[in-house]
Amino acid sequence: MIFKKMTAEEAANLINDKDIIGFSGFTAAGCPKAITQALGKRAEAEHAAGRPFKVGMYTGASTGDSIDGVLARAHAIEFRSPYQSNKDLRTELNAHEAHYFDLHLSELPQYLRYGFLTKPTVAILEASDITDDGKVYLTSAVGISPTVARLADRIFIELNAYHPKELKGIHDIYEPADPPYRKEIPVYSPSDKIGVPYLQIDPDKVVGVVNTNLPNEVGGFTPSDEVTNKIGQNVADFLSAEMKAGRIPASFLPVQSGVGNVANAVLGAMGANKDIPSFEVYTEVIQDAVIALMKENNVKFASGCSLTLSKDALEDVYEHLDFFKKRLLLRPQEISNHPEIARRLGLISINTALEADIFGNINSTHVVGTKMMNGIGGSGDFCRNAYLSIFTTPSTAKEGKISAIVPMVSHLDHSEHSVKILITEHGIADLRGKSPIQRADAIIENCVAPEYKSILRAYLQLGQKGHTLQNMAAALAFHDTFNKTGDMRQTDWKKYL
Ligand code: COA
Repeated sequence: MIFKKMTAEEAANLINDKDIIGFSGFTAAGCPKAITQALGKRAEAEHAAGRPFKVGMYTGASTGDSIDGVLARAHAIEFRSPYQSNKDLRTELNAHEAHYFDLHLSELPQYLRYGFLTKPTVAILEASDITDDGKVYLTSAVGISPTVARLADRIFIELNAYHPKELKGIHDIYEPADPPYRKEIPVYSPSDKIGVPYLQIDPDKVVGVVNTNLPNEVGGFTPSDEVTNKIGQNVADFLSAEMKAGRIPASFLPVQSGVGNVANAVLGAMGANKDIPSFEVYTEVIQDAVIALMKENNVKFASGCSLTLSKDALEDVYEHLDFFKKRLLLRPQEISNHPEIARRLGLISINTALEADIFGNINSTHVVGTKMMNGIGGSGDFCRNAYLSIFTTPSTAKEGKISAIVPMVSHLDHSEHSVKILITEHGIADLRGKSPIQRADAIIENCVAPEYKSILRAYLQLGQKGHTLQNMAAALAFHDTFNKTGDMRQTDWKKYL
C-alpha cells in the first residue's frame, strides 16, 4: 500500500479546530470509530489548555457513540447535520451547545455540491479495502461517502479488518450530475445496479490510513411487545386487504420501512401474513427483520443504504456472504432515498410518528413541540413520494400521560397532504379521499386510546367553524396541560367554550 499508515492519535492531531468533517456510514453501520475517539481526547486536552476546539460534522444519518457520543461529551461539535439519535448529543443541541439542522437525508449530498452548505474540509471513511489507485471499498453502509470524499481537501481512511474484503460487489456507487445536466436515475427495480462497486477517490488527498478491527456500534433492539406486535398486525392486515381490493398488485410492491422496534415488528408481521407474497425492499436502513425474512424467502431482495444489524445478524450475513450478496445492495443515501425512484417503484412506505393530529398531520421530530428527538431522517423523502404512505405510532406514551394523537401537532414534519394511512395498536385510519372532519372522525374512532376518545371528540364540539375545525386558543391545550400537570388527560375544555 502506498498510503501512509498512522495511529488514530496521529490522525486526530492533524485535524484542526474549525475543520468540517464528512463521515462515511449511516446509523452506526459503516462509521469510523478510532480517529474520533482520539479526536475527543484531543478536544478535551485543547479545552483544558484554554484553547477552542470544535468541528463541524456531516454524516449519513445517526452514528455510533464513538462519533456523536464522544464528540458531544467533549463539547467538540460546532454544528451537526442531518440526523442523530444520541442521548448526549441531543442534550448538547437542545441546549444550543451545538447547532443542528435536520434535513431530508436524500438532500444533503446535493446541498453540499450546490454550495448551499459549507463544504467539508476533511473526510473520514471506514473501508474494508483500498487500492493504490484510490478505489475504496466501503463496509456496511454508504451514506454520503461519495460526495464528501470528492469535496473534502483531505481524506483519512480507517481500514477495518472486522469487515471482510469479500464485501466487494455489495455496494453500488453512483453520484448524479447536478442540474441542468441531471438525467433520470435509471433504477427501475430494487436490484438494478447503476454504478460501480467502489468509491473512486483522489489518492493524493489521502493523508493516512489507520488500521482497526472494530465491530459496528449498533445497539440491540428492544424485544417487540403487545403494542408493537398489534401495530405490526394491523399494518399486515391493512396491506393484505389492499391486495384483495386490487389496490396493490398481486406481485406486491417494494417496501420501505423506517427505523426502530415498531418497524421490526411490522416487517415480522408482514412476513407471517400468508396473504402477502415474498416481497422486495427499497429502503434506507436494512434492519434485522429483513435478514430474518430473507432467510425464510419472505423477502426476495433488499436495496438500502446501510446494514444496521445487530452484531449477531451482521456476523450471520458475513458468514453467508455468497447467499446474501445476491440479495443485498447498498447505495448512497441520495439514491436509496431518491424521490424520483420512490415514485417510480411505487414504494409502500411505513414510518413511525412521534405524534399525529386528528387531521392527519405528523410530527416526527420534536417532543412536546420544543425538544429535538432525532430528526426527520428519510421519512419525508419517502412519504411524500410513496405509492402508499403509512405512519404508525403507539397511541400513547409515558404510561398514557401523553396521547400521541392530539388536536394539532406541536411541530409539523409531514402534512395531511402526504399522509395516507395512520395505524396504532387500536386500528387503522384510512385518510384517502377524506375531508378534514372525516379524517378526524376516522382517527378518533380507530386510532386514539380509549381514555382520550371523549376528550378529542369534545374538542371538535368547541364551536369552531370552518373547513378544518381547529380552535386556535385550544389547539395546543394538550401540550400546555402536559407541561403544567404532567398528564394530557387533565385537559379541561371549559375555559375555551
Ligand atoms: N410526545 C412526547 N414524547 C413521546 C411521544 C409524544 N407523542 N411519543 C413518544 N415519546 C417518547 C417516548 O416515550 C420515548 O421516550 P424515552 O426515550 O424517554 O423512553 C421516546 O419518545 C421515543 O419513543 P419510542 O416509542 O421509543 O420511539 P421509537 O424508537 O419507535 O422512535 C421516532 C420513534 C419517531 C423517534 C423515530 O422513528 C424517528 O426518529 N423518526 C423520524 C425519522 C424517520 O422516520 N426515519 C425513518 C425513515 S426510513
